Amino acid sequence: MRIDILTIFPKMFDPVLNESIIKRARIKDKVKFYIHDLRDYTSDKHRKVDDRPFGGGSGMVMRVEPIFNCIETIKRKEKKPKIILLTPQGKRLNQDKAKKLSKLSHLILVCGHYEGVDERVRSNLADEEISIGDYVLTGGELPAMVLIDVIVRLMPGVLGNKNSLNFESFEGNLLEYPHYTRPSSFRKMNVPEILVSGDHHKIEAWRRVEALKRTKKRRPDLLKR
Ligand code: ADE
Repeated sequence: MRIDILTIFPKMFDPVLNESIIKRARIKDKVKFYIHDLRDYTSDKHRKVDDRPFGGGSGMVMRVEPIFNCIETIKRKEKKPKIILLTPQGKRLNQDKAKKLSKLSHLILVCGHYEGVDERVRSNLADEEISIGDYVLTGGELPAMVLIDVIVRLMPGVLGNKNSLNFESFEGNLLEYPHYTRPSSFRKMNVPEILVSGDHHKIEAWRRVEALKRTKKRRPDLLKR
């Protein structure tokens, strides 16, 4: 997959793309990132990426021109990328959405800022608008990183153990069962006996029940699905 990121804070992405699973995915050539500083796509001497809103009011609006300019240069290299605008007004991200996106070959992520992005970006450029939750962040960079992280770990061959994807939270609309590792007893807190019994059928059944109990208690909305 190729992922292009349009941002006014390109440096924010360095630490996230250069650590852990995402770094490994890059080294394995599963994903390639292209980070575009929107100021490089302005045509005025102050390299302005925002301006005052028509009609007045507080705050600044991200300008349409640098975003269009940037995407037009990207499109020359690739045929039909999916353009996603990160915004609190978008559709809420979930695991199903991430799975669908992880199968595509080219994403362009537009990170909004200030009071918002010129509406012409939404109406004439973006294929989708995605929000990572019902709260407002200072910009779309962190949401873009969240989206990247969710998508990259779903790509085939990125995580070491395929099973870890099959049994994780939200798979089959269940939260995950509880995990333990050594020691089996720590300050009188003991691991459930069944997990050290060696009886794999019983362990599987226990995990299923625990996943159901946990989901019922914490996220009954998932069970209804
Ligand atoms: N930009 C600011 N807040 C956001 C959110 N919750 N999701 C996506 N983009 C955002």
